[in-house]
Amino acid sequence: MLSKEDNELMCRVGPETPMGDALRRYWLPALLSSDLPHPDCDPKRVRLVGEDFIAFRDTKGRIGFLDEYCRHRSASLALGRVEDCGIRCIYHGWKFAYDGTVLETPNVEDPDFKTRFKARAFPAREAGGFIWVYLGPVEKEPPFPHYSWFDLPASHVVTTVHHGECNFVQIMEGLVDSSHLGLLHMDGLKKTDTSDLTFAKKTNTMQFNLAPKLEAEDAPYGFNYVALRNISDAQGQRIEARVTAFVAPCFIFNPNGDLITIVVPADDEASYFFHAFWDAEKKLNEEPLRSQHLSFIGLDDATLHRFGIDLGNVDPGRPNRANNFLQDREGMRSGRTFSGLPGFVQEDIAVSVASGPTRDRSRETLSAADVAVGRLYRVLINSARRVKDGGDPVGIDPAIDTNAIKGAAAVLRSGQAWQSLVPSAATLTRAAREPAGAK
Ligand code: FES
Ligand SMILES: [Fe+2]
Repeated sequence: MLSKEDNELMCRVGPETPMGDALRRYWLPALLSSDLPHPDCDPKRVRLVGEDFIAFRDTKGRIGFLDEYCRHRSASLALGRVEDCGIRCIYHGWKFAYDGTVLETPNVEDPDFKTRFKARAFPAREAGGFIWVYLGPVEKEPPFPHYSWFDLPASHVVTTVHHGECNFVQIMEGLVDSSHLGLLHMDGLKKTDTSDLTFAKKTNTMQFNLAPKLEAEDAPYGFNYVALRNISDAQGQRIEARVTAFVAPCFIFNPNGDLITIVVPADDEASYFFHAFWDAEKKLNEEPLRSQHLSFIGLDDATLHRFGIDLGNVDPGRPNRANNFLQDREGMRSGRTFSGLPGFVQEDIAVSVASGPTRDRSRETLSAADVAVGRLYRVLINSARRVKDGGDPVGIDPAIDTNAIKGAAAVLRSGQAWQSLVPSAATLTRAAREPAGAK
């Protein structure tokens, strides 16, 4: 349960809200690198934390991330021409560079006019298959993070994005909630018995214990939480630990150790749901492995489109809250399917969105199964409050070695603590604080 006031504080992300200000203090993924596939390609409209932006790749490959609305009289630059190292508004031809410099104002005679102002532009970087932006105050820009999958070749990393028509916290809750896996996703987990995919093999045991023991602990970047499942069998007493790392404000390192999910608010009532999967050994991003992997999870283009959650899908008949996501009720009755929904991703989106765009959490009943959900609320609310009071949000610490953050899963040895599976707070920050060569 959360008071209505705290719920509002946590969920409102627009300009000049405490949570909105906190979110603007981090580097956030805004789109996939492949959304801007080549220099001078079509620009992309991006709605992010309650504001409208335009992203483009200029002739030299540099990313521009500007206010969507032209600095002249607010025509949408989504209609603009990307040409000759800038984006040109089609209304009166004003042209802007990737950093907001005004290059041309052809309907104004005075050649100095354009030097007197700039378009609102934001720092943008590309890494790990995503285009990242920083929307906060210039003087508060944190170091750009370096996560483990950034160093892998593109052929080993698969990135995707789809959308959910609800507040970002609603989607994130499902990602720190191991106990729903054996129920909501039981259809998909059964398929892991026969699949050869690495992802399937790593996920297989979750169907065998519906009430894992959950524990959580704070970490410098947010928190870690563990689901402990008794998977004892003929081989003896065995406890499997699956540790998830939650990195503020919206990054979830899955226990499989090769997947991150990132949920970025488009606004209060819509979110982008990014995935990056990687495999250091296999070329996961090449066929046929890429398609097999994405289809297994429900992230292939065709399934996303059929379910209406590919970006820009406005088909009013798509699966949605009003039609109960076109659940297969006959299949549910006959025992063919538990959820009546086609895949992991569709199940998560349906339960997140069907509660309404922003849930009132004041009448909910958290249980022992929701340890990490409560921790998630606390990290977010603390971040919003700290920024409101003039401080830094959780996890903004240049000493954190982001490259070392990971999720992990293993069968514990006798007496082994689950905390030993992930880096300790001291290890995470020591490398960055100590000078090179220090012991
Ligand atoms: S509105 Fe863009 S140039 Fe006039
Ligand atoms: Fe899920």
